[in-house]
Parts: sequence; C-alpha cells; structure tokens
Amino acid sequence: MKKFYVTTPIFYPSGKPHLGHAFSALYASLLAEYKRLLGYDVYFATGTDEHGQKIEETAKSKNITPQELVDNNSDVFKKLWNKMGIRYDYFIRTTNSCHKKAVQETFDFLLKKGFIYLGNWRGLYCISCEENYTENSAIKKDSEFFCEHGHKLVSKNEESYFLKIKSFNEWIINMLSNNKDFIYPHNRSKELINNFLSDGKLEDLSITRTTFEWGIKTLVNSKHVIYVWLDALLNYITLLGYKSDDDSNFKKYWISDDCEKVHLIGKEITRFHCIYWPIILKMLDLPLPNKIISHGWIITNTGKMSKSLGNVIDPTDIIDNYGKDAFRYFLAKEISIKDDSVYSDDKFITTFNTDLANNYGNLINRTIGMLKKYNNNIVPKYNGPITYNDFLIVKTQNEFLSKAKELIDDLNIKDLIDLICDFENKINNYIEQSKPWDFLKNNMKQNLDSFLSILVNLIRTTIAFLKPILIDATELAIQQLNFDKEILLIDSLKDFSKVDNITVNEAKPIFVRISQ
Ligand code: MSP
Repeated sequence: MKKFYVTTPIFYPSGKPHLGHAFSALYASLLAEYKRLLGYDVYFATGTDEHGQKIEETAKSKNITPQELVDNNSDVFKKLWNKMGIRYDYFIRTTNSCHKKAVQETFDFLLKKGFIYLGNWRGLYCISCEENYTENSAIKKDSEFFCEHGHKLVSKNEESYFLKIKSFNEWIINMLSNNKDFIYPHNRSKELINNFLSDGKLEDLSITRTTFEWGIKTLVNSKHVIYVWLDALLNYITLLGYKSDDDSNFKKYWISDDCEKVHLIGKEITRFHCIYWPIILKMLDLPLPNKIISHGWIITNTGKMSKSLGNVIDPTDIIDNYGKDAFRYFLAKEISIKDDSVYSDDKFITTFNTDLANNYGNLINRTIGMLKKYNNNIVPKYNGPITYNDFLIVKTQNEFLSKAKELIDDLNIKDLIDLICDFENKINNYIEQSKPWDFLKNNMKQNLDSFLSILVNLIRTTIAFLKPILIDATELAIQQLNFDKEILLIDSLKDFSKVDNITVNEAKPIFVRISQ
C-alpha cells in the first residue's frame, strides 16, 4: 500500500486561532482525506508550537505561567479542529517531554558532529516572528527598524550557539534548482534563491537564546534555550518517534522511500521549511520531504487580518452561522494556494448558493424526486446506455474518474473541485437533454430506466468525490438515497449495477439557499 505523510505547520498558541490558521489546517487535512479516498496508508499530523519569547511575554501580560497559557490555548486549537471536522492521527505539543528530549538529543548530536559552534549574536530581533534581523535585512523607518510584516524590532547582543548552514549555500541552491517539484507553487523557489541564497548570502543561523527562559534548554549549557524554529521544525520527525524508544512510525513514514512526505505551510514561513529544514535534515543524514506546499494568505476587504485593525475573522462565527460543511467547502474551493484571497461574507454566500444549494443539494433532491415520480422510489436495474446522451455521459463519467484520481495524486485539490463542479454541470445538462418527462409521455420505459439508473450513478460519483469535504451532507445524502457506505468506494464507481433496485427515502433539502 502506498504511504502518505502530511503535516500542518504547528500553530503558535499565543492567542485564538483565526481564519488563516483554520485554512492551513483544513487544506492539509484534505490532502490526507483525499489520499485516504484513493486507498493510501495516510498519517496526518498537526499541533502547537509552544515555546519562545512571544509566549513567555503574552503569559506575563496575562499574569499566568507560559505553561498555563499554552495548555489553555492548545486546547482551543484542538476544539476548533474538532468543530471543523478535522481528523488527525497525531496532535503534537512541543512542550511534550518526548519532543523536548528528542530536540535536546538532536542538538547534542549536531554539536558533536561539528555542525554547531558557540559565538556571539549582535543584531535585531522580531519577537512576533521569532526571527533575527540585521540592519541590512530589516526595514528602517525614521530611526527604528521593522521586520517585513511591520513588527518593531529590538536590539540584541548575546552569546549564542550557531548552526553552520553557510557552508550549505551551494548545496541548497542546487537542491532547489534541480528539484522543481520541491516547492509548490514553483515561483516561490526562485524568490527564495534571489532573496536569501544567491551570491553566497546565507549566514550561519543563531540557534540558542539566553535572554528568556521559555524553551528547551540545551544539555551542554542550561543558560541556552534552543531557538523556537529549530525546536518547531523538528516536530515533523519527533512526532513520528525520532530519537524515541518507539521509532516505528518514523521508519515507516519518514525513512521509507515509498512514503510521500508533504508539508503544507503558509508562504511567509517558506524560508524556514525550504532552506533551514532541508539543511538540518542533510546534517542529520535523513531524507528530505518530497514537497512543500506554500499557500497564500487570506486577507479581508480592509487588508491583512490584524488585531489592531479589528478585522480578524473568527472561524467559529462562520461555522455557527452556516455549518461546518459550507465552511470547509468554501475554504477548499475559494482560498487560493498561489495567491492571496479575499474573504467576504458575500463571496461565501454566493459559493454556498451556487455550488452547494443549487448544484449539489438540488441534484440529489431532483434525482430522488424523479425516482419517486417515475419509478416508485426504486432505482431501476442497470442495463447499459441506450441513447446518445447516455453513451456520452457514461464516457464523461469515465474520463472524470481518471482525471480526478490524477489530480488527487498530484495533490491538486483546487482543480479537483473545479472538475467536480464541471461534472455537476454536465449532469444537469444530461437531465435537460435527456428529457425524461418525454420518455414517460411516449411510453419509452427502457430509456427512462436507463436514464434513471445512470443518473443515480452520476450523483453517487459526485457524492463520493465530495465526501472528504462534506461530512454531514454526505451522511444526509446517503441516508436519503439509502446507499451503503461501500458503494461510495472509488474503485466501485464504474460498476453501475451496485445501486440496482435500491429503494430511496424521502428527499429533504441538504443545503437551504441563503437569501443575500
Ligand atoms: N509556529 C510557526 C510554524 C512552525 S511550523 C514548524 C507559525 N505559526 S503561526 O501560528 O504563526 O502560523 C501558522 C500557519 O497559519 C502558517 O502556515 C501561516 O501561514 C498561517 N496563517 C496565519 N495567518 C494567515 C492568513 N491570514 N492567511 C492564511 N494563512 C495564514 O508560523
């Protein structure tokens, strides 16, 4: 069985999750769900990134301990994933003792191998992004320095351990240039090379801090806390059991050649995942991930979400108003990977009405209605296509199946959803062109039976391919159509006889149109 390992970025639990976090988690989970649909052995992990200065300072401002802060907020992330219907195999918290021990041992190992040395860091620091800057890499406004996300930088001069990444400058350029599929979308690779790697720009990375406490202490010197990004990146392998007593998942999902390993991240953390992480893995003599998918941001009509602008969108409000399926569908379809996307309630409602109420829901409703009207609620036995329209649509279904599987293999869920929408439109055309009401009028029972049986199978195909996104709706649909779960298995969809003689139940609207 082919294997697939996919991760979300691990989230800073310094505050509540917003729509951007929800999208990162959902999209990664959908990659997992779609691969499962094709029968892959899938492992899907997510979690919270719980150390660092920002967490320490936020806790202080709330008069609680950092541990209390991360315990509370990590739980809020878990609850949201649950509300969104995200199923994960593992939820890592970087304050877990197993993770901490593995990070300390990895640090020690790299130190002993000569990849880490003690030095002094003089420069600027962004507490929000947990990132070092120099006066050259920072943005200067008046006499103050800011990071590219607009946060004010603080000056720093401290003893620090450094990771010798500079000597990997050429190696990483070659890896990115020769491995075109490593980053998706591909153009982010060029940006990385130009901005951070060309002309030997890469500098050794400061990987410890001595000015705050909240982090994993190095074994060699307890004054030094390990840089939160080194701690965080290692989560992708520690959660599989790297450097633990049971590393069977690590061997199965990371070391083995037949497991495709994918990280889904937001575009602003591409550098960490596509430069530092591959170099760390190379130092550790471990395989690299196969692909990093780096998505754009969700912005609002008033710009990027920020607390000060008061435009942060809370995912729970949308789910409470429209349900989790509509929320999942909207994010999956309308939020772009390549570009930034604007969220607006109007756009949400338009997608809901067009795709879910008018197409998906209405098709199921119409189909059950026709079975009731023309055949006593019973799906006729399949006897093959009769009319030209029947032949055409059966061929279309066949083409749909192979194209859809290809898109899932390529992890292209965006195009897959467009393909499903196009298929739904073709089903609507099939109904209009077949004119079943004429078959009835002209006593063409065989044609009518063939039409109804094919139609149910087309609907069945749509339901099967939207199942990973639409959780409650799928349950309602299969209850109304009286389908057994196994007839939604992808490999069975070409067998139209699977729905022979099923008696369907009463049709009830699955998605009720929202008035705008
Ligand atoms: N803790 C680091 C990741 C470490 S992974 C080893 C981090 N955390 S985060 O909480 O700030 O962000 C988590 C994810 O949410 C990132 O992928 C980020 O891109 C995503 N989003 C945060 N705001 C976003 C939007 N407005 N839109 C879309 N996603 C964005 O970075």
